[in-house]
Amino acid sequence: MTNTTGELQIDGVTKRFGPLKAIDRVTLRIPAGRFVTLLGPSGCGKTTLLRMIAGFYEPDEGAISLDGTRIDHLPPHQRSTAMVFQDYALFPHMTVRENIGYGLRLANVSRAEIERRVDTILDFMGLNGLGDRWPNQLSGGQQQRVALARALIIEPKVLLLDEPLSNLDANFRERMRWELRSLQQRLKITFLYVTHDQSEALAMSDWVAVMNAGRVEQWGTPREIYHAPRGAFVATFIGTANLREVRVMRRENGQAVIALAEHTISVPVSDSSSLGDKALLCVRPELITISRACQDESRVNLRGRVIRYAFLGHITRYWVEAAGEEWIIDQPDQGPSEQPYEGDVTLSFLPQQAHLITEA
Ligand SMILES: Nc1ncnc2c1ncn2[C@@H]1O[C@H](COP(=O)(O)OP(=O)(O)OP(=O)(O)O)[C@@H](O)[C@H]1O
Ligand SMILES: [Mg+2]
Repeated sequence: MTNTTGELQIDGVTKRFGPLKAIDRVTLRIPAGRFVTLLGPSGCGKTTLLRMIAGFYEPDEGAISLDGTRIDHLPPHQRSTAMVFQDYALFPHMTVRENIGYGLRLANVSRAEIERRVDTILDFMGLNGLGDRWPNQLSGGQQQRVALARALIIEPKVLLLDEPLSNLDANFRERMRWELRSLQQRLKITFLYVTHDQSEALAMSDWVAVMNAGRVEQWGTPREIYHAPRGAFVATFIGTANLREVRVMRRENGQAVIALAEHTISVPVSDSSSLGDKALLCVRPELITISRACQDESRVNLRGRVIRYAFLGHITRYWVEAAGEEWIIDQPDQGPSEQPYEGDVTLSFLPQQAHLITEA
């Protein structure tokens, strides 16, 4: 298993179910040997896209290639891909060993060779001693590892994972995130992971494709999609965003000069070519400071009034009315004696930490 192969190219792929376009002209290049996540709300087409890559659905239009070779007309077992399903889909009438060896039996690998490879992967996945159990004698996490072992034993170039953690409880889920991430880093094969959970996507991925209604809205690193969302959908689907419609007055040296309430401020723009008269200013709640007095002039200061707040343990979340709109601010908590802000306050943020969405 090396990381020089396993690059997926999806070119203008469309999939219809009757009148519904479940996938609408999706083009994506999934780099080899990376952990890539398809992130989007329920029904946006994530499973449909994964199933087309695995070979369980055929695209109506477009092409899917692996390392430069078209695979969209090949049967699933000839694609060098393997899929882990949300409910694991273990065969209940087969033992763990038989489940894991299944793909090799289909490929007519000799009995001795199957035994050897099943032993190796049982060991690799930390499943020693469980080979003769039935699936219903395993915990959820063990079943999940058997499902992974069954997929990995065929040595796929691309492993497709459809929400594999959604059946696990919160604590175990968090641990499995790191297990999957480190598994990918050990194997160095391409992982294409599907989830609707943004924190999972941010925590695990090298790259994220944010999907909505059958289309890819944005491709980027976790930090890019969080801090530089391309549109209002991505900004609000990933985390919480204060979005403000602003007037663009002029642009200069990669900056846009905008009007926000009575302030004129300069914010960075990555793509000034798409900049019109109006734009959306996106300020994340944790980048705003709340205080009693104005902060220094390098910051944008807005006078406001606390509407309500909620103590959430590690932070206090405030809702503040300022400049005629409601703002959400997250302040890290300072310990047991902290007094929350009430009444009149000042909000401030650094303009260079704000992000301008130009497609407003
Ligand atoms: N076999 C099918 N026949 C008809 N419609 C389908 C079929 N499979 C999926 N769809 C529809 O296509 C759209 C995309 O479905 P898909 O299962 O890909 O969404 P998803 O992003 O995986 O959602 P979830 O997060 O809920 O799993 C949905 O509107 C769904 O109802
Ligand atoms: Mg799905």
